Amino acid sequence: MLASNGNFLKDCWYVAAMSQEVSTKPLGRTLLERAVVLFRTEEGAVVALNDRCPHRFVPLSLGKVIGSSIQCTYHGLRFGPNGSCIHNPHGKVAQRLRIDAYPTIERYGYIWIWFGDPSKSDPSTLPNMPLLEREEEFTFVRGVLSVNANYELVTDNLLDLSHIEYLHPALARAEGVEGQKVEFFRENDTVIANRWKPNNSLSTFARLFWDCPPSSGDGRANIRWQPPAFLYLDIGVTEVGGKVEEGVCTPSIHLLTPATPFRTHYFWAQGRNRRLNDSEFDRKLWEMTDRIFRTEDKLVIEAQQASLGESADLLSMRPLLLEPDAPAMMARRILSQRISAEAAAESAEP
Ligand code: FES
Ligand SMILES: [Fe+2]
Repeated sequence: MLASNGNFLKDCWYVAAMSQEVSTKPLGRTLLERAVVLFRTEEGAVVALNDRCPHRFVPLSLGKVIGSSIQCTYHGLRFGPNGSCIHNPHGKVAQRLRIDAYPTIERYGYIWIWFGDPSKSDPSTLPNMPLLEREEEFTFVRGVLSVNANYELVTDNLLDLSHIEYLHPALARAEGVEGQKVEFFRENDTVIANRWKPNNSLSTFARLFWDCPPSSGDGRANIRWQPPAFLYLDIGVTEVGGKVEEGVCTPSIHLLTPATPFRTHYFWAQGRNRRLNDSEFDRKLWEMTDRIFRTEDKLVIEAQQASLGESADLLSMRPLLLEPDAPAMMARRILSQRISAEAAAESAEP
């Protein structure tokens, strides 16, 4: 079975939104082909419900939050956090007047949502992202992009860092491809792809973090992927022969949530261990990161999807595979196996 075309892994957490996006003003968002409304109750708890009133199918996200419930804008039915109707201004509250509610957790500055079996929605299965909570050592800026492409094309892009030298002139020079060391391997269901560039000239991006940048340094770009589409990228540079902990670390987190087979919510967080507590630098870094993802990666990935047409199945089109594609192929295989295993277990259930 292909991992694409709407066959998504279900028993796992996905990012539904950044914490700051969710308030008492309802937010409608398509996630895994479902219309979902997210809101905070007046007490601050996060709620995720099917974004469709069962009466005349109006999106509840057009309504308003009252206490811990949401009121439909059309005829005033109100639904509580577990999806049951708690108020019907036109008659009795019938048992069948309810909508789907989804488990959520707020952690690491994100709202996570679970679309699989609710009894399996264990918070301990959230991806581990400790850097986002080490605020004295790292500052992160965050953003979200809507990419008109299948989420596995975005995963491919991130796991294949050989594109950096060509697509991102501010991040590396094309001549730097030579002389780099590369390794990749798998640890259980995690794919790891590491690149080192010893004694290489510093990129425009790396120079931002030094008061007096050295002319060259030892660079690294180490990425980890775990299903369904969580990526952690450790980019850093030290003085030649220097220790990692004394150098510049600019880790980034990339969390992909399919909206549909052809659209992806791309949540990113770009961190650094230099120039902390500097809001002007935050703004500069946010603009640079957003510009790179939006005008370089997103542009190419959307053009790639347009070229593939109405297919989310890249492999059926027999692409030429180069050596740097190996980690992405490994991730595609793992995800496909996980989705098949989940579907098989589901169909075996009594
Ligand atoms: S459509 Fe929601 S109450 Fe009528
Ligand atoms: Fe990129």
